[in-house]
Amino acid sequence: MSNYHKTVLLKETIDLLDIKEGKRYVDATLGGGGHAFEILRRGGVVLGLDADQEAIDYVREELRIKNQELRFEKKNLTLAKGNFKDIDEIAREYGFEDVKGIIYDLGVSSHQLDSPERGFSFQKEAVLDMRMDRDLNVRADALINVLTKGELYELLTKLGEESHAHVISERIVSARRISPIRTTTELAEIVKKAVPWRKNDKTNPATKVFQALRIAVNDEINNLKEGLVSAFEILEKNGRIAVISFHSLEDRVVKMQFKKWEADGAGAIITKKPITPSANEVEANNRARSAKLRVIEKI
Ligand SMILES: C[S@@+](CC[C@H](N)C(=O)[O-])C[C@H]1O[C@@H](n2cnc3c(N)ncnc32)[C@H](O)[C@@H]1O
Repeated sequence: MSNYHKTVLLKETIDLLDIKEGKRYVDATLGGGGHAFEILRRGGVVLGLDADQEAIDYVREELRIKNQELRFEKKNLTLAKGNFKDIDEIAREYGFEDVKGIIYDLGVSSHQLDSPERGFSFQKEAVLDMRMDRDLNVRADALINVLTKGELYELLTKLGEESHAHVISERIVSARRISPIRTTTELAEIVKKAVPWRKNDKTNPATKVFQALRIAVNDEINNLKEGLVSAFEILEKNGRIAVISFHSLEDRVVKMQFKKWEADGAGAIITKKPITPSANEVEANNRARSAKLRVIEKI
């Protein structure tokens, strides 16, 4: 298991993608390559895509090591930095039209969360950055300091489903009148002072605020909507799309799009109910607790 990221629902996802030797697959969220390497191991040919150059560099190095260990054919894994909202264009550029399967394992990797300088974590002091793709222009600190109170309220409500959005947005606006909010820990403290919480709460009171900001900075919901539609374009008949989501906003987008394809006669939903990790997996990897896997087949 890589230090970069503990892969979630590995067997369940790859089993349902039904890997066929020599067929082409796209891993749209490469991360530490956990899913991609399993597809390779089962004989698939993979295009691995990630918006974060660090993921691409990590997997390139892993491939060099594993190549010696496991005798993978290097040519069976192609790596590309890019946003999965453009998956059809990118895939075609690399000769991956008519693919047999596509996987989306959404959200951030443990490596991104655990790298303080990336600004995703409320536990480590860092500039509020939160960009998965460092070529993006807008960081989280820009949003926090520029949005109006009303816009902050809307962001926290819609993207964080934060029930204390009103008081939190008020406190953010008062705090930044004194000086701009620049760091993760400054923001986490403002939230902690604004909302009721108990010492033994399982989740940090700033969790939803950080989630909302991250989704906004990376335009995650729109990317997912566009990414699913463009993924269907490059999928061959009987090909499958597997999506692992980690919160209800994402899951809703996946569920609605899959239902639409089924209603249009374009797809058959394979997972009537989403697949969730076993108790053992959750015990070994707390991040897996909210994972939901949905799979659809193109008809
Ligand atoms: C949860 S991790 C994937 C982990 C991977 N499946 C593994 O087992 O190691 C999600 C990855 O998706 C990438 N990502 C998120 N949104 C993206 C997007 N719109 N386009 C491309 N990559 C994206 C992130 O940078 C991150 O590396």
